[in-house]
Amino acid sequence: MCGIIAYTGHRPAVPVVIEGLRRLEYRGYDSAGVSFIQNNELLNVVRAAGKLNALEQKLSNSPNILATVGMGHTRWATHGIPVERNAHPHKSFDGSLSIIHNGIIENFQELKNDLLAKGYKFYSDTDTEVLVNLISEERKNTTNLMQAFANALNKAHGAYAVALMSKEEPDSILAARMHAPLILGLGVGENFVASDVPAFLNYTRDVVFLDDGELVKITANSWELRSITDLGLIEKKVQRINWDMQAASKGGFKHFMLKEIFEQPKVISDCLVGRIDKGKSEVKLPELNEFPTPERLHIVACGTSYNAGLWGQHLFESWAKIPVTVEIASEFRYRDVILNKNDLVLVISQSGETADTLACLRLVKSKGIPVVALTNVVGSSIAREANASIYTQAGPEISVASTKAMTSQMILLSLMALYFAKRQNNLDKDILKNALEGLSSLEPELNKVLPKLREKAQELALLYSGARSFFFLGRGVCYPLAEEGALKLKELSYIHAEGYAAGEMKHGPIALIDQDFPTFALAFNDSLFPKVKSNIEEVQARQGKVIALTHEKTSLTTVDNLWIIPEVWGVLNSFIALPALQLFSYEVADYLGKDVDQPRNLAKSVTVE
Ligand code: F6R
Repeated sequence: MCGIIAYTGHRPAVPVVIEGLRRLEYRGYDSAGVSFIQNNELLNVVRAAGKLNALEQKLSNSPNILATVGMGHTRWATHGIPVERNAHPHKSFDGSLSIIHNGIIENFQELKNDLLAKGYKFYSDTDTEVLVNLISEERKNTTNLMQAFANALNKAHGAYAVALMSKEEPDSILAARMHAPLILGLGVGENFVASDVPAFLNYTRDVVFLDDGELVKITANSWELRSITDLGLIEKKVQRINWDMQAASKGGFKHFMLKEIFEQPKVISDCLVGRIDKGKSEVKLPELNEFPTPERLHIVACGTSYNAGLWGQHLFESWAKIPVTVEIASEFRYRDVILNKNDLVLVISQSGETADTLACLRLVKSKGIPVVALTNVVGSSIAREANASIYTQAGPEISVASTKAMTSQMILLSLMALYFAKRQNNLDKDILKNALEGLSSLEPELNKVLPKLREKAQELALLYSGARSFFFLGRGVCYPLAEEGALKLKELSYIHAEGYAAGEMKHGPIALIDQDFPTFALAFNDSLFPKVKSNIEEVQARQGKVIALTHEKTSLTTVDNLWIIPEVWGVLNSFIALPALQLFSYEVADYLGKDVDQPRNLAKSVTVE
């Protein structure tokens, strides 16, 4: 997830662009850059690694930039480490074009090979530099730049919000969208395109939201919207935005956490981009190609990432038939862990900086055992030190409580399990087909269901926010989800909560149950349902109130609050249940007036022991 803004108007463009980038910094902040046209001909690019201040520092060396057309980018690396040469904008090899891009071009390697064969040279590791050169190549065979832009985009598969500047048309900017946000801002004698409204909200509230497959050309006084496929003109209504700046930076949501919960459908599709082939029968994880299938996999992580690991264990065992241990990093690092030479260690960390997880990585490497990292932050310590890194591509998570990162980790764990299963020919064809089709249809399914989940969570929050303690119970893949539900409730609302394996309750904890100690049970329509039902009855027999998150087909009726969620295929039901749990905790905490985005005593990145 990166942030882009482009401007053409009557003001000095660079300060407008920098101000816009500052408002988009929440989308990524490992490097930034601007492009502007000076004296109608020179296409300049200035870039810097690090936060926006580093770029501003660099620009302060050239105080007299008079350009009125410009664009800028703040980066959250997905391809290539966060260094200046990978920062955007990227120029074409001939220097005539510059481009900024948010997204991932899936087939960039094939496109790059073609361009290399034609003599193009590349100075970065990015997919974006491939795209700008592809446009330059297309320009040789077309009558105008817009056509070349469209032709190149039609050859690129994946996700993009892009903006293009050229020496050829120095007063205009071309931009386009496919599976990544892009908004047109319409001012008086000035126009903008950006990833998000706050980037230009100080200048205009009149916007047009681009849809996938749309391309726009802006000048200071005009805009035209066209289809990428055939350049046919598209008519669209201008909308007026009434959000204030604070609401706008959260996309109109009250908290970043809520915004991030609602981003999950998009995160799922971003995680899948380029990793499932078109025929949907292959998983592509080239990061794992160099590793033999492990005899044993050790997953090591903390907190929510640990819960994701616990969930992934089920998939590695049942699909890939690989024995798995899941370990809390702060324990693992001080044990005499026995690792064999054919083992593999997978460390999971959203931030890539968690001290305990990093220490485990170093310990394992010192024993000569390979470590793969599953992380969200390119260039983080864990990403740099692991033998290979798989990036979750969830975009920056601002809310301290992790939500979309866990979803992205679970998607990648599913893909990894399928990858190893397929490699060993261990997997029933139907499971592979159902899993891949199911993963691909999660985005629309979740988009549909999220508003309803929120309504139900609000209703339950009113009923249960007075509780002092809560149990979250589940079996199988629902046990890690129960752990996560409890973790979310305690960290956000400060209500004591425990996640428990439902069958383990009767070995002690059930003594706590009375009418003031409610239970949140996860009861999927699966082979474990009869067992979970008995555990629910055990709670009810002690006057405990029960919320049951379940499917219609279980025909469960006898609990205090039924929460029926739509049923999808097998373990993928977890991707519907997880946001339900997150929303329940969110609504309870919000109802109690807690500081949802920054709960007391917590830090987003735990870099101490
Ligand atoms: C809970 C939460 C934490 C983190 C944990 C590990 O909402 O965010 O439990 O999951 O601190 O962090 P990472 O994944 O960055 O290693």
